[in-house]
Amino acid sequence: MDSAKLSLGGQEYELPVVLGTEGERGVDISRFRGESGAVTLDPGYGNTGSCQSGICFINGEEGILRYRGYPIEQLAEQASFAEVSYLLIYGELPSVAQLQEFSDGLTYHSMIHEDMKKFFEGYPASAHPMAVLSSMISSLATYYPESEGNGDDDLNIIRILAKSKTMAAWSYKKSIGQPLVYPQNRLSYCADFLNMMFSVPTEEYEVPKVVEEALNVLFILHADHEQNCSTSTVRMVASSQANIFASLSAGVGALWGPLHGGANQKVLEMLEMIRQDGSDYKKYVDMAKDKDNDFRMMGFGHRVYKNFDPRATILRKACDEVLEQLGIDDPLLNIAKQLEDVALNDEYFVERKLYPNVDFYSGVLYRAMGIPTDMFTVMFALGRLPGWIAHFKELRGDPTSRINRPRQIYTGATARDYTPVAER
Ligand code: SDX
Repeated sequence: MDSAKLSLGGQEYELPVVLGTEGERGVDISRFRGESGAVTLDPGYGNTGSCQSGICFINGEEGILRYRGYPIEQLAEQASFAEVSYLLIYGELPSVAQLQEFSDGLTYHSMIHEDMKKFFEGYPASAHPMAVLSSMISSLATYYPESEGNGDDDLNIIRILAKSKTMAAWSYKKSIGQPLVYPQNRLSYCADFLNMMFSVPTEEYEVPKVVEEALNVLFILHADHEQNCSTSTVRMVASSQANIFASLSAGVGALWGPLHGGANQKVLEMLEMIRQDGSDYKKYVDMAKDKDNDFRMMGFGHRVYKNFDPRATILRKACDEVLEQLGIDDPLLNIAKQLEDVALNDEYFVERKLYPNVDFYSGVLYRAMGIPTDMFTVMFALGRLPGWIAHFKELRGDPTSRINRPRQIYTGATARDYTPVAER
């Protein structure tokens, strides 16, 4: 076993080094505070591993992303979202029988308790669907109180995956004042979601195959991404032994942020702003580079990928194919491509290794599919559910897992005595 040496205050400490299956090295500091009295400091955890995990591997320098060892390109091209969900959660691709049983679960548990319909009556039409999704997932715990389990209660895993798409579609229908559409057992996971989103009682709705297939790819691409902000949040909450619904509800909240999953909505708003400003995209590239301007090129940059985000590459191609098949010429896609071409040749972006990330093209594709902008981050959440569940299960299945409780360096006032308000 390799080791690292750290000297502090004239004393040398030997720290064990953990080696991952892909050759990554981690300096194990778990005994360092006990031996030295000092903690390490890493605001934003950019250099800190919170756990050892076998679910997802990313190589940011080489633009590699694999789920349980399978390259994302192969899964996006050949697998279904149900298959990938099973793979992430249970560790292996399902057999025919296993996939059938899992898919049946997703089908037959897609209805929510009729009383939960009343929840939607309480939300204003303007309610952001991420607020609704977070509270509805948490509220599932009130209907399934036995969910104090270890996350190995497979039925709750199925319930979350099956019911979240219904709750998401119903939040959209409520926001536009249309009647709720019930799940249909005859439809696939993706087709059923699209049907609940776009079907109306007044006319037959046929889910376009190209849209169903594009949604399958989008969900697969979003399904997991190692210790990102929202997944780390799920693990943080799960580490207190909170139930699976509470843990995933917290993940939805973290994902909502514009620096994380909320970026896809911000990308579309940015492209629309550029379009309304005469499509002067170079002006916005200059604004993004200007330190005195808080404008950021949404959809660009990544904490891990310092090369291309393989998901963005797949989505750029999918955008071209889907928009061509749907006969859509979207000026926003043209602006996105112009922004990408300029940024990839601009020293500011090249120097900082700012490449388009998964959120840069996903919004254009959602828009082409008819998904409203404020539902984009909900789409990200629906895709990320299996990854969150997999990490919840991995953490709760680890007998050595402890409650996550980081340390800090205190920089506030030193000890002082209280004085009555009359004397202040
Ligand atoms: C996701 O972690 C994951 O895996 C997340 C995700 C997943 O699947 O879960 O991949 C999904 O969240 C993708 C990221 C979506 N967010 C955005 O597109 C928002 C815009 N991007 C940034 O805000 C930023 O790039 C982050 C948040 C993605 C990464 O931030 P970091 O790693 O903290 O980088 P940083 O803010 O320290 O930036 C480093 C430099 C800075 O300039 P300098 O101070 O060095 O001069 O790059 C600049 C930043 O100002 N910079 C940008 C920029 N992103 C970084 N400048 C302009 N536009 C940008 N988008």
